[in-house]
Amino acid sequence: MRFLRTYTRVLQLLGNDLRIAAMLGGANVVLAGLHFIDPLLFGRVIDLLTRSPDMPRAALWQEAISLLGLWAAVGIGGIAANIAVALQAERLAHRNRITAMARYYAHVLAMPLSFHGDTHSGRLVKMMISGTEALFGLWLTFFREHMATFVATLVLLPMTLFLNWKLAVALIVLVVLFCTLTVLVIRHTEAGQRQVESHNNNLAGTAQDALANVVLVQSFTRLGAEARLFGDIANQVIAHQFPVLNWWAVVNVLTRAASTVTVMAIVITGTVLHVNGEASVGEIVGFMGVATMLIGRLEAAVSFASRAVFLRPQLDDFLAVLDAETTVQEKKGATELTAPHGEVRFEKVSFSYPGGTPVLADVSFQARPGTTVALVGQTGAGKTTAMSLLQRLWDPSSGHISIDGQDLRDVTLDSLRRAVGVVFQDSMLFNRSIRDNLRMGRPDATDEELERACRMAEAHDFITRQPLGYDTMIGERGASLSGGQRQRLAIARALLKGPPILILDEATSALDAATEARVARALAVLMRGRTTFIIAHRLSTVRNADEILVFDAGKIVEQGTFDSLLAAGGHFAELVHTQLAGTAVKTAE
Ligand SMILES: Nc1ncnc2c1ncn2[C@@H]1O[C@H](COP(=O)(O)OP(=O)(O)OP(=O)(O)O)[C@@H](O)[C@H]1O
Ligand SMILES: [Mg+2]
Repeated sequence: MRFLRTYTRVLQLLGNDLRIAAMLGGANVVLAGLHFIDPLLFGRVIDLLTRSPDMPRAALWQEAISLLGLWAAVGIGGIAANIAVALQAERLAHRNRITAMARYYAHVLAMPLSFHGDTHSGRLVKMMISGTEALFGLWLTFFREHMATFVATLVLLPMTLFLNWKLAVALIVLVVLFCTLTVLVIRHTEAGQRQVESHNNNLAGTAQDALANVVLVQSFTRLGAEARLFGDIANQVIAHQFPVLNWWAVVNVLTRAASTVTVMAIVITGTVLHVNGEASVGEIVGFMGVATMLIGRLEAAVSFASRAVFLRPQLDDFLAVLDAETTVQEKKGATELTAPHGEVRFEKVSFSYPGGTPVLADVSFQARPGTTVALVGQTGAGKTTAMSLLQRLWDPSSGHISIDGQDLRDVTLDSLRRAVGVVFQDSMLFNRSIRDNLRMGRPDATDEELERACRMAEAHDFITRQPLGYDTMIGERGASLSGGQRQRLAIARALLKGPPILILDEATSALDAATEARVARALAVLMRGRTTFIIAHRLSTVRNADEILVFDAGKIVEQGTFDSLLAAGGHFAELVHTQLAGTAVKTAE
């Protein structure tokens, strides 16, 4: 039953094209009918020829011409229907493959981080490609050939009973055998094929993981180990695939044998009937024609069924991704966020990652418009997580976050993310030109604006030193740039976006002290008039913040200005002293 559910979905995916699909269905019925008439006409011609010696010439010609005329009309009709089906089926399959791919891609891109954390990007790409290929193949062959077979079996098989019931029984027994065998083997091999597919997905995930970390693979001399890991999974694929193949080989051999036996049975029964004067030669030849046509189609249908079994796991994976619901749903009737001031308020916000322990507990604070709030604390304390909640990459488990009095859950995701600019710990650049990377947040920025932002972020000089300047491609994740250059690009990108709320998560951690001082000036310009959150380990960076929130194990343990916190002699003072001691040791060395 689940098998049928998958394939119902496969048809539903055709969406608006379902009407064309229905037309193709109609054409297929016509084709099936014509295929049925064809051999019967042939039988009539043979009967006519056997009777011809006793017939007057004129009557013979008259009958022959009307028979042949009908036959020609059937032939031409068949060709026309075939052309229409072939053309439309191809178009339908191609068009919908692209549509399904685009739909999947847009859906996956919009999925929340919880989804991406669990699912490897390599697997997602593989599922997209193999899922849409599977859909394409099934749509195409189904609408071009196999639909006619199903129609033929359902409609024409009972009709053979009217032709000659004794011959028909032999044929019906065969069809029932075919179907039972196929259903049994489908049941038997489904689970195995599911296993094969999950190993196949693993293969893609593993390859993508290693390729994304190719530098590490080489520098840690992991070439052999990674190849072995890949080989092990590949062996699993083979180990699970072979038993499935064995079963389908059995089906193939048995269906062939059954066809031969049936044809022989029909010939023998036909001969006996003819000898007893119960059937003419033409009737037997006609029936044989119908039978061989049906048997040929059934054989093709069995191989289609086996393909449907092989492809089902790929389709299920594809559909599961398409059906996965985002955990950060946009409310119906969500309004556009208006953030003229940029006041941010966290009220008793608690959060844990799915299946994880609590990361934030009862976090409350308020960032007044235009001020700078620093988040400090040990690594893993929950600073980045708190800022992910502000961008609504996740929803808090309890509590509220609001911007200018609007709860984040009441506003559209687009307007929220337009209002918040982020410079990340990891700069996240695309394998596109510098210009395209910079325009990410503001596609309509002019070249002058681009250059101004880059000058402010101290990035203009190194960009012009690149071979193609602003048009230089920067490699996957910006691989052809240094860590500091990547960060300066990310800062320029945020400058261009110019949002009312800004998050700088370790934005200057990859810069040397001299550049950091210069970039700090750029950042000061950027921060002016915007509510800014700075996450920094180097405490010197947060000296000028209006307020410092000290995080420890997901809680805010202290808050105040740099000097007041230092004077209080608590957690923060301890952090500052450890850092100063660290620098002192470094200088002493
Ligand atoms: N996507 C995730 N899924 C599950 N757990 C996560 C995820 N991201 C972070 N965590 C966990 O949440 C906790 C807080 O992480 P977070 O990144 O917020 O810390 P942080 O204060 O920003 O640390 P750092 O200073 O090192 O950047 C950590 O224990 C981390 O392991
Ligand atoms: Mg962090």
